[in-house]
Amino acid sequence: MILLTGGAGYIGLHSAVALIEAGHEVVLFDNFSNSKPEGVRRLVKIVGREVACVEGDVRSASDMAAVFARYSIDAVIHFAGLKAVGESVEQPLRYYDNNVAGTLVLLAAMQQAGVRRIVFSSSATVYGAPDFSPIPESAALRPANTYGRTKLMVEEILRDLHASAPDWSVALLRYFNPVGAHSSGQIGEDPSGIPNNLMPFVAQVAVGRRAELNVFGGDYPTPDGTGVRDYIHVMDLADGHRAAVDRVLGDPRDVLTVNLGTGVGYSVLDLVRAFERACCRPIPYRIALRRPGDVPASWGDPSLAGQQLQWTARRSLDDMCRDSWNWQKQNPDGFA
Ligand code: NAD
Ligand code: UFG
Repeated sequence: MILLTGGAGYIGLHSAVALIEAGHEVVLFDNFSNSKPEGVRRLVKIVGREVACVEGDVRSASDMAAVFARYSIDAVIHFAGLKAVGESVEQPLRYYDNNVAGTLVLLAAMQQAGVRRIVFSSSATVYGAPDFSPIPESAALRPANTYGRTKLMVEEILRDLHASAPDWSVALLRYFNPVGAHSSGQIGEDPSGIPNNLMPFVAQVAVGRRAELNVFGGDYPTPDGTGVRDYIHVMDLADGHRAAVDRVLGDPRDVLTVNLGTGVGYSVLDLVRAFERACCRPIPYRIALRRPGDVPASWGDPSLAGQQLQWTARRSLDDMCRDSWNWQKQNPDGFA
């Protein structure tokens, strides 16, 4: 059985679909601080069977001990964490507590239970402003904000843990920009409040919840002046987790660090145009000031994941926009 901490969240639910469809048993563990039980009900609808789900907090040693006592866990995917960059700078203690201290509690519980296989949700944010793209895993690691530092700290904790106890099998997955939704439109990204990220903002403009998109910066040194990112379909990302779980279950007893991206960068305006094609309506936008902390361009080199996990992203930007729109139009207010 695979334990998914933060399993009721955006990437957790989509990964649960991929894992269950590949024949794995999963148990979701979540404190619902950034997700809703309705998401889990939708997952059950998609897979057509009950899915174990425990409400609890990774920072609670007793909650963690209880889940390892109740289920026979073979491996953990650790999604649980807070992810808003701006908020992390304003509330560093909350971020270090949730993302770093919470991971320590989880790892202690794993050690106690004799579970030594973990897949961790890291982020391309550990690279900070890259010297060049595509970014290989060997690039310099210099996160530019608190959130990014929490991710790098957990990577280092897991490397130190493996150095001290080489029977651990660890996969550190550095995601680029996850977008899109399951093709059913039953689950998708459901940000609370004003979306920080581009795709959910565009989707809310398309559905009429917001008047126009602010494009943060039109004077970057990129082909059309807007920021360039490596958008990856969340179901491709989910399949990457399935591949990473299969690898750690094989007990490689190493630490694998891989980028999960497509290797292709698209600009903000590329994404807006693709979304317009998907929803068949114009997306009003205006060019606004650059957002502080944004890098001009960042996309990943996913070739190591190809070699080590036999995984590659297959879905296009048009697929990502089509599925985001399908989710948004069926659920204009998300899971509410
Ligand atoms: P999400 O917020 O939708 O999911 C995270 C889940 O963790 C939520 O359901 C939340 O309720 C839960 N959670 C938070 N703190 C918890 C705690 N202390 N105990 C138990 N549950 C807790 O976010 P997501 O987009 O699904 O991201 C999943 C992971 O991937 C996160 O670690 C995030 O940092 C990382 N990541 C996300 C992105 C992205 O752009 N979405 C990019 C790179 C990395
Ligand atoms: N953008 C806009 N308008 C918006 C929102 C975003 O123009 O309303 C632009 C940004 O300036 C950037 C691009 O769209 O050029 C993508 O921005 P996102 O906020 O969607 O994504 P980021 O690349 O800034 O950051 C995301 C996650 C981070 C993660 C990082 C790398 O938010 O948590 O990807 O994985 F670390």
